[in-house]
Amino acid sequence: MADVFTHDLIIFGAGLAGLRAAIEASRVAQGKLDIAVISKNQLMRAHSVAAEGGTAAVLRPEDGDSIDLHAWDTVKGSDFLADQDVVELFVRTMPSEILQLDHWGIPWTRREDGRIAQRPFGGHSYPRAVLAQDKTGFFEMQTLYDTLLKYSNVKHYNEHFVTSILVENNTFCGLTFIDMTTGEFKVIRGKALIIASGGAGTLFGFTTYSQTVTGDGMALAYRAGIPLEDIEFLQFHPTGLVPSGILITEACRGEGGYLINRNGDRFMGKYAPSKLELAPRDLISRSEMIEIEEGRGVKEPNGLDYIYLDLRHLGAKTINEHLPLIREVCIEFNDIDPIKEPIPCRPVAHYSMGGIETDIKGATRIKGVYAAGEAACVSLHGANRLGSNSTAECLVWGKISGAEAGRYCNEIKKAAPVPEARVHAEHKRIFEDLLSQNGSEDLYEIRRELRKCMDTHVGVFRTGQELSQGLQIIRSLRKRYANIRIDDKSLIYNTNLYHALEIGNLLDLAEVMVTGANMRTESRGGHARRDFPHRDDVNWLKHTLAFFTEQGPKLDYKPVTITSWEPEERKY
Ligand code: FUM
Repeated sequence: MADVFTHDLIIFGAGLAGLRAAIEASRVAQGKLDIAVISKNQLMRAHSVAAEGGTAAVLRPEDGDSIDLHAWDTVKGSDFLADQDVVELFVRTMPSEILQLDHWGIPWTRREDGRIAQRPFGGHSYPRAVLAQDKTGFFEMQTLYDTLLKYSNVKHYNEHFVTSILVENNTFCGLTFIDMTTGEFKVIRGKALIIASGGAGTLFGFTTYSQTVTGDGMALAYRAGIPLEDIEFLQFHPTGLVPSGILITEACRGEGGYLINRNGDRFMGKYAPSKLELAPRDLISRSEMIEIEEGRGVKEPNGLDYIYLDLRHLGAKTINEHLPLIREVCIEFNDIDPIKEPIPCRPVAHYSMGGIETDIKGATRIKGVYAAGEAACVSLHGANRLGSNSTAECLVWGKISGAEAGRYCNEIKKAAPVPEARVHAEHKRIFEDLLSQNGSEDLYEIRRELRKCMDTHVGVFRTGQELSQGLQIIRSLRKRYANIRIDDKSLIYNTNLYHALEIGNLLDLAEVMVTGANMRTESRGGHARRDFPHRDDVNWLKHTLAFFTEQGPKLDYKPVTITSWEPEERKY
């Protein structure tokens, strides 16, 4: 039997949601809960550090913003697929999270009068994105990390790769994982688990995600019997830097940047006359693709045709003070200075609106398992997330799930026993079967083909025909995956093995995403079907649930919670 480590609460993922959950669970238990935070990365290398533009919250009711307005913007932005009770809880909780981070020492950007600054973001009716320059995620992570240092009850398992979630009688028992530094296979046992391991955007080749974010928690939860919800809704952010895909923050448009086509025309007036460049992301990404498809984009030999984001009129002072990271990235990666030249951009895979199904408190259908942040689908974003609502979501449901899981741990006497047969089976799957594989298929070729397939068949615009072809390709890649070769047989930092596990996770998630997208015969938010161009509330005002079976995902549906806002036509 592998070494077994026992804790009360295990947090899988060390980004914004994971760290916020660890702090809250520590607080509710007054430091008495034994908490483990497990991540395949070094602390502070979580992808949350790459969040740039801001975190939405209502701070100025006296100036015309309101909790109701933030809720309405979020519901309308979601194309009415968000659960409205969830949205209401979110907008009510956010202001205190901003102040809490302020008290913990975050260097929010401030106005001349010393108050916390806010800037406009797409789809919001008020400039409510709180910022720390254009490095908001980094400073939020740093602040949570510093705060967590106060708690000696939290143990970090960095560079530990989680391979499965152990569940017996619908109750959480523990995780199996590999210590990446030694290759040792181990078990971590606990009363409760919070999955906060991020989204699945690396299914796509052109993406803002760091390569480490491979939807592991989502795939493991799915295999453990928790349904994935609304996975067909993948957000394409309008401004990915061509050709790298690096995020060029929406804050550039919040600061006044223009989108222009190859003729120099500011085209958003045609598509969103009142909001222009500050329309929601789904609408802007579709507008850019139309400009490109109708020949008003700039041709790029690798197929990444683009339009431009133009910041030149903002001037050096604004760019240097408010968007220093963007300037640095453009100079370093593209050898262009946005003070003098427009930036080549196009829609880029950026965010999973769907994820592990949870209730409003972050609890899943398995006792003791919670999920938070991008890995989860509490159903805040529906079919399209508004920019600056994601770091906010991580804070709110990091806090809520941390408190809930902490309380649950206090109620439970001891962790469930480890199911030894399952642990043996998982050890065999990885170290006897997978690691010893010498098949003829190149793992990295499979990953390249998967990403090409997703870029080509599951993009901003979709059709039933393309999605069916995509599904066939994914299924054939899965068959080929069974015959891969792992060249590296060593144990210490065997990235070849971890890539194999990650690609297995991505293949499962790709199948769920494309199956759900193919079934959803309407256009809603980030899911735009050329063959079904309209939203269909009669048949599709519902959430998709995908359950794991050996034969592939089995779909079911559940209703959307409507409290205050009936669906209406979405105009910007
Ligand atoms: O554009 C951005 O800075 C991204 C923000 C977000 O996805 O919320």
